[in-house]
Amino acid sequence: MMRYLLVVLFFLCSSAAWPQNSVENLVLATAPIDQSDMNSIKRGATFFAANCMACHTLVYLRYDKVAQDAGITLDKMPINVSNWPFGIKPPDLSLEASIRGVDWIYTYLHSFYQDSSRPTGVNNLLIPNTAMSGILAPYQGDQVLVTNKVSLGILYNDTNWYDLLVLTKQGSMTPEQFDATMADLVNFLAYAAEPFHEEQRHLGWWVLGFLAVLFVLMYFLKKEYWKDVKKNK
Ligand code: HEC
Repeated sequence: MMRYLLVVLFFLCSSAAWPQNSVENLVLATAPIDQSDMNSIKRGATFFAANCMACHTLVYLRYDKVAQDAGITLDKMPINVSNWPFGIKPPDLSLEASIRGVDWIYTYLHSFYQDSSRPTGVNNLLIPNTAMSGILAPYQGDQVLVTNKVSLGILYNDTNWYDLLVLTKQGSMTPEQFDATMADLVNFLAYAAEPFHEEQRHLGWWVLGFLAVLFVLMYFLKKEYWKDVKKNK
């Protein structure tokens, strides 16, 4: 009985591994970010203000200086919108980098493709039938899904988003410029989730340094205390 169940389960899984227009085991691209690079974070903030804040809030970042300098303020965030298209409210992205991880966001932003069956005209490899529209297409260009590879299951393991999508029309950015812009944007979202990350790292070194000095002092203090004890033995 168990064996039959396992066989059935195997066939169910193998056919479900390539559901229409989605990739279950997509390899996430590594986001090339440097969290100590404040200029990159600021560029990302500016891009966010111009391209993402129409839909996404960053409520936990409303008092942050970097965000405010880029024009990301509470009064401009879409807080009280109730009539979102398709009834799907774009999620707040304050903690997105902690929830999904930077590599996930970097891959998600790269993997939009043309799909005329969707009301938005686009689809995404990581969120199949995503309600987010193709707002990055003017920069990245138009991508199409290499459907024959998907349906044949040729690329089964270790499939990257760029194995499945082909750029048919370049946007205002070259692929390298788009990668760099997305890295800045993801860097900013990483900063949003943990604005004190760098400060904490620096503080961490000071704490370790302090402990090292304390260790040396304590060692000599201990020697001093035990000096006479040992002599009297
Ligand atoms: C026109 C509105 C709109 C704009 C502009 C927009 N988004 Fe979205 N976004 C959405 C919606 C709606 C969803 C929810 C998608 C879903 O779950 O189907 C979403 C989802 C996301 C998600 C995934 C959230 C999750 O974990 O499920 C990320 C990350 C994201 N957006 C980032 C961005 C970034 C970065 C920008 C700017 C470059 C941006 N979005 C611009 C509407 C928008």
